[in-house]
This record gives sequence, structure tokens and C-alpha cells, in this order.
Amino acid sequence: MKEFLPAAELAQLPEGRLSAVRPKGLPVLLLNKDGRVFALENRCAHMGCPLAAGALEGYTLECPCHAWRFDVRDGSFLDAPELRLKTYATKISGGTVFIEAEI
Ligand code: FES
Repeated sequence: MKEFLPAAELAQLPEGRLSAVRPKGLPVLLLNKDGRVFALENRCAHMGCPLAAGALEGYTLECPCHAWRFDVRDGSFLDAPELRLKTYATKISGGTVFIEAEI
């Protein structure tokens, strides 16, 4: 069953900063960029490094461990787009960011 889980306060997510959160224990990376909030699994598809410690350029997120690069808009791995990070739908209500996750 999918449910929207509170993940962070929008005011705690400055534009362009990568934030690691753990709603219900899930490792999630949040990014507030260009008026949208993106939510992805905070675990690299290569060897599981935490992506919130990576570098962001535009919509490209580079893993801090071995420099794999992902598009934060859909989680796709740039060198092989069929490989993707898990992404979560988001909504904002009352200043709180929610992610939609299977629980
Ligand atoms: S763990 Fe991310 S590139 Fe290797």
C-alpha cells in the first residue's frame, strides 16, 4: 500500500542543497530545485554509497564514491538510462514535504 509520509519541512530545504532524510527509516535524498522537490533513494545503484554526499550540477548528481552520474528528475544513470535510482512522488502541504512510498 502506498502512503504519503512526512519527510521534511520545506523551510529546511534550501534551493539546490542535497538533504538526507529517513521517513519511516527509508534512506531518501531530497532536493529543492527550480520550484520542485525531488526525492530519490539515497543509495547509489552501483555500490550503495549515500548520494546526498555527492555533487550536483544542474540536474546531474554525481556519486561521491566512483562518480556515477544520475539525472535527479527521473533517477536515470546517464551512461545507461535503463538503470535507475528509485524515485518518489512528492507533495507539499502546510509547509511539509511528503514522499509517496510503499509501506
Ligand atoms: S557507489 Fe556510486 S558510483 Fe560507485
